[in-house]
Amino acid sequence: MTAHSKFTVAYTVHKLTDYSPAALGKAAIECVSACSSEASAVRNEADLKAFRDRWLARKHGILTQINDLWLKGAPKESKREAGIRVNELKVRIQELVDGAHVSAVQPEIAVDRVDLSLPGIHRPIGAEHPVLRASREMCAVFQRMGYSVAEGPVVETDYYNFEALNFPPNHPARDTQDTLFIAGQESKPQREKLLLRTHTSPVQIRTMERLRPPIRIVIPGVVHRNDPPDASHSPMFHQIEGLAVDTNITFGDLKGTLDYAMKDFFGSSVKTSFRPSFFPFTEPSAELYISCFICGGTGKRGSDPCRPCKQTGWIEILGCGMVDPNVFEFVKDNGYDPKKVSGFAWGMGADRVALLKYGVDDLQLFFHGDVRFLAQWA
Ligand code: DAH
Repeated sequence: MTAHSKFTVAYTVHKLTDYSPAALGKAAIECVSACSSEASAVRNEADLKAFRDRWLARKHGILTQINDLWLKGAPKESKREAGIRVNELKVRIQELVDGAHVSAVQPEIAVDRVDLSLPGIHRPIGAEHPVLRASREMCAVFQRMGYSVAEGPVVETDYYNFEALNFPPNHPARDTQDTLFIAGQESKPQREKLLLRTHTSPVQIRTMERLRPPIRIVIPGVVHRNDPPDASHSPMFHQIEGLAVDTNITFGDLKGTLDYAMKDFFGSSVKTSFRPSFFPFTEPSAELYISCFICGGTGKRGSDPCRPCKQTGWIEILGCGMVDPNVFEFVKDNGYDPKKVSGFAWGMGADRVALLKYGVDDLQLFFHGDVRFLAQWA
C-alpha cells in the first residue's frame, strides 16, 4: 500500500490560470497541506519510499509537475513571482519529506531497543547563577528598607541612555561609556537611535515618567560597553541601580542608606567612606568605598599583600550622588519639579559584588558556562 492511496482524493497538480500573488499563495498552501498530511500517514519504509517518489521523483514527481505546469506555463510578467513561490515550495516539501523519514524510521528502532529495566535519565536541576544570586540578595537588602524593584529594556534609545541623564550630544562624558549602536539608523534623529544600554540609569527616567514622587526603587539589569574582556572587565555585565526621590531628601539620607545597606550585605563590621567624583546626572557625586572585609582594612593577609583591595584596605563599590536638577527637568511634568523634590541615586556593578562576596578572582569565570565552576553555587 502506498502512502497516498490511503486518501480518498489524492492531491494532483493543476495548471494555473490565475497568477496573482493571492492565487499563487493559495495553490502553494493547498500543495503543502496535502504533502504534510501524506507525510503524517507514512508508517514504514515502504510508505516512505512511495511518498518520497510521489513528491520528488525526477520524471513524474509532484515537484517536477509543478515546475512544468506552474513555472514553465507562467506568462512572462508573472515568471519572477511564480519562480519565488515554486522555490519556497521546493524547500518546504523537501523538509516534509526529510521529516517523514525521521518519524517513519525512528519509532521502529526505538521500540526494539527500549530496555525498561534500565534506570531513568536523570536531569540535574540547575542552580541560580552567582551573579544573579548576588544581585537578588543586594536588591533584597533594599527591599527590606521599602524599595521596589523596577526593570527596563536592554536595547535603549540615545535619549534615555544619555540625553535625559544630562549627557548632551557630543559631550565628552559619553566617551567613558562607548557601546554598540543598532545598525541602519543613519536617518533617525540622534535621540531616537537604538543602542545597547551602557548602564541601568535610563530606568531612573523611565520610572519617573511612569510613577509620581515619592519613589524608592532598585533596578537590576544587564548592560554593555566597549570593554575588552579581562579578569575585571566584560563587554556584557550587570548593574544594580538605586533611586530615592521625595521632598527634603539630603546627602545625609544617601550616606545613611548606603552605610546601612553595605553593613547588611557584607557584614556589620564594614566601614564606608565617600570620596568626591563626577557623573553627569548627579551633583554632587561620590564614589563609595567599603573597608576591605577580607583583610579587615589592613591591606595584608598574614605576610602576603591583600589582592582584592590592592593593599589599600578599601574597595570601591559604587558611584552615587544627589540627582542633578537638570535630570528632574526632563520629568518635571510628572511631579518632579526640581524646586520641590530632591533625591539620591547610586549604581554598582553586580558582577564585582559577586566577585568580592564569593572570593572569585577572575570575572570571566562567571561567563564561560563551565558547570564545574557554576556547580559550586548549587
Ligand atoms: N551609571 C553609572 C555608571 O554606570 C553608575 C552610577 C553612578 C549610577 C552614580 C548612579 C549614580 O545612579 O548616581 O558608571
